[in-house]
Amino acid sequence: MNISRSFLVIGSLYLLVGISLGSYMGGSGDHTLAPVHAHINLLGFTLMTVFGLAYRVIPGLADGMLAKAHFWLHQIGALVLLIGLFLMMSGQVAEETIGPMFPVAELAVLLGAVLWAVNLFRTVR
Ligand code: HEM
Ligand code: HEM
Repeated sequence: MNISRSFLVIGSLYLLVGISLGSYMGGSGDHTLAPVHAHINLLGFTLMTVFGLAYRVIPGLADGMLAKAHFWLHQIGALVLLIGLFLMMSGQVAEETIGPMFPVAELAVLLGAVLWAVNLFRTVR
């Protein structure tokens, strides 16, 4: 698997969803989902694009288990977090039902970020 390409391509899909939701909010005047929109764009597009570019330009960063584990933790964590946030903030699922999933998803993103940092410390000179 090409981690850089996967981050970049998946990030571009988040951008399409994020812009679409932003346009919908702008058009409708209903900004209820602004935090969902913000984090689709930031956690989805922006971070994934930064990761994708870094894995491409920093020699050795994409090699090994740290990069792979970071990729999957970020993908699963971000997806669960953003879908959960959307369902909760659009009123489709009660907070009590979906609430317990958030800490798990957040932990996945956080753990991914820890691996990313460890990998950087070890690889970048
Ligand atoms: C055509 C593209 C976009 C449209 C139409 C759009 C539209 C909006 C709208 C209507 C809001 C709600 C504003 C409010 O309630 O105060 C918003 C919030 C926000 N947008 Fe976008 N947006 C777009 C692209 C982006 C992109 C590309 C990013 C980041 C990379 C982004 C980041 C944010 C953030 C962080 C907020 C929350 C701001 C806050 O809570 O103060 N947006 N956007
Ligand atoms: C697991 C990851 C993250 C969690 C759990 C999280 C959680 C939150 C929460 C609870 C808020 C307050 C929302 C509100 O008051 O309505 C917030 C706001 C914000 N976060 Fe995050 N965040 C995460 C990642 C990020 C990242 C990676 C970025 C930027 C690259 C970011 C940028 C922002 C910004 C700009 C706001 C203010 C805009 C808004 O109120 O919608 N966040 N975040």
